[in-house]
Amino acid sequence: MYTFLRILAALILVGVLALAAFIFVPVQLTPPQTELAADYQVPEGSGKYAMQLSDCAACHTAVDGERFAGGRAIESPMGVIYSSNITPDPETGIGDVTLDQFRAALYDGIGKHGEHLYPAMPYDNYRKLTEPDVRALYAYFMDEVPPVRNEVKAAEMGFPFNQRWGIRAWKWVALDKAGFTPEFDDEQLDRGAYLVEGPGHCGACHSPRNQYFAQAGYTAANDRFLTGGEIGGWHAPDLREPNSAPQKWAADQLAHWLRTGRNNHAGVSGEMQLVVGESLQYLSDEDVGAMVAYLRHIGRDGPAPETPPARPETSGKTEALLASADPGMELGARLYLDNCNACHFVDGLGANEIFPELDGNSLVNAPGGTGLINIILHGAELPSTEIRPMRLRMPGFANRLTDDEVATLANFVRSGWSNSAAPIDADAVAALRDRPAEAD
Ligand code: HEC
Ligand code: HEC
Ligand code: HEC
Repeated sequence: MYTFLRILAALILVGVLALAAFIFVPVQLTPPQTELAADYQVPEGSGKYAMQLSDCAACHTAVDGERFAGGRAIESPMGVIYSSNITPDPETGIGDVTLDQFRAALYDGIGKHGEHLYPAMPYDNYRKLTEPDVRALYAYFMDEVPPVRNEVKAAEMGFPFNQRWGIRAWKWVALDKAGFTPEFDDEQLDRGAYLVEGPGHCGACHSPRNQYFAQAGYTAANDRFLTGGEIGGWHAPDLREPNSAPQKWAADQLAHWLRTGRNNHAGVSGEMQLVVGESLQYLSDEDVGAMVAYLRHIGRDGPAPETPPARPETSGKTEALLASADPGMELGARLYLDNCNACHFVDGLGANEIFPELDGNSLVNAPGGTGLINIILHGAELPSTEIRPMRLRMPGFANRLTDDEVATLANFVRSGWSNSAAPIDADAVAALRDRPAEAD
């Protein structure tokens, strides 16, 4: 009897110890780097640039909060996560964090207390950062960012997602190997691949998720990489299909859009606005060129054609209908004439760099149409960039149009000209009516 109890007690102890080890022992998934000497000097200015490439500011600055002081709420289906304070305040920030600890956060998602970080912090992509970029980032946050005292709220996740050790198991199935491996025998393409797959973490939004909720692939070798994802109620479009922006826009138009959020086709909206505003606008000419070359190279059906494909023929029916001003015209067309035509015009082509095209626009045609509904209801504003400082604003129509009218109008636009997206219904509009657009 007693022997049995002793065995049971021993088993429980072993179980508890194993669990404790599993929970509390930090896993350093990648060995410490020895690639650069400890006294390596970070080149002047490279810290800020590495930060801009990686878009650290977008997540680590709360709306109206101090820069990098954290506290930005990041919604997930499992609950809300607050970004950490990454200013060098030793208590509430990362002032007491060593280079190895900092690298562990970027590569392995390990926080300064050894805790597993939620992948809302895109370490699954930052694992590809090169050692010179990690050193540059560390130097930037330690020496150039002013410390700010700001205690950030703990994550609000439901059980079992509040058990951070579970993330460790997730890392085993989800993470790709650390470090960046050049795949092309071409300096420009390899630089582009590095920027997109690593610091730019484009896949965090533009790749679909697999059964483990991990990004489907971390390089173009996976044919689901960058083929479209959902983020904060917006659809981040496929960047590889034949009809995608990198495949159908001219190279210089794509470069211009990445830097300014506008070109002769589209304007930037939703979660992509901070990517342009905080990160892409600062890319050097060489880096934006490399990113464009890479994006155009990895099309699903092969590299993009040198000259952009001709715009698909439209039957001209939409233009004729709108121009007819027939009083018996269907409701969708009438709503378009009354509310949209002044800026986006009868041909749905808008005006270069001012009013985006609605014909062939990926946001208009996105599955679910949430971005389109959001913009019709709440309007949109293009961010100011150094090259294009003027903010351009489209008014919202929530006060003027009912849910049914918005749905009818959205469906008119989604099926007008050469568009042929599936219809949406008034319930989809109702769901977004009281929810302000994410980027506002
Ligand atoms: C997409 C959003 C996002 C981006 C971009 C991002 N982070 Fe984070 N980061 C987070 C979130 C959210 C957390 C907290 C995660 C948690 O609590 O589990 C975090 C945590 C951290 C931590 C851990 C802090 C601690 O207390 O130990 C560090 C360090 C960090 N981030 C640095 C960076 C750096 C440097 C960059 C840019 C290279 C960056 N982050 C970019 C969202 C982001
Ligand atoms: C935080 C999420 C997020 C990240 C990170 C992100 N994107 Fe986006 N992106 C979006 C969303 C949402 C849209 C759709 C809204 C729009 O078109 O402005 C979009 C749109 C785009 C478009 C426009 C496509 C079109 O047809 O109009 C391009 C090009 C693009 N992203 C490229 C990139 C590149 C390159 C990166 C990495 C440097 C990147 N994105 C990172 C969310 C993101
Ligand atoms: C006063 C001029 C104006 C009117 C009227 C107007 N828009 Fe816009 N629209 C704009 C501007 C400017 C933008 C660029 C803002 C942005 O994308 O952030 C825009 C952007 C858009 C976009 C996003 C396109 C993209 O590439 O991101 C869609 C979709 C859109 N408008 C649809 C409509 C519809 C539908 C109506 C009618 C209900 C309408 N607009 C009325 C000026 C206008």
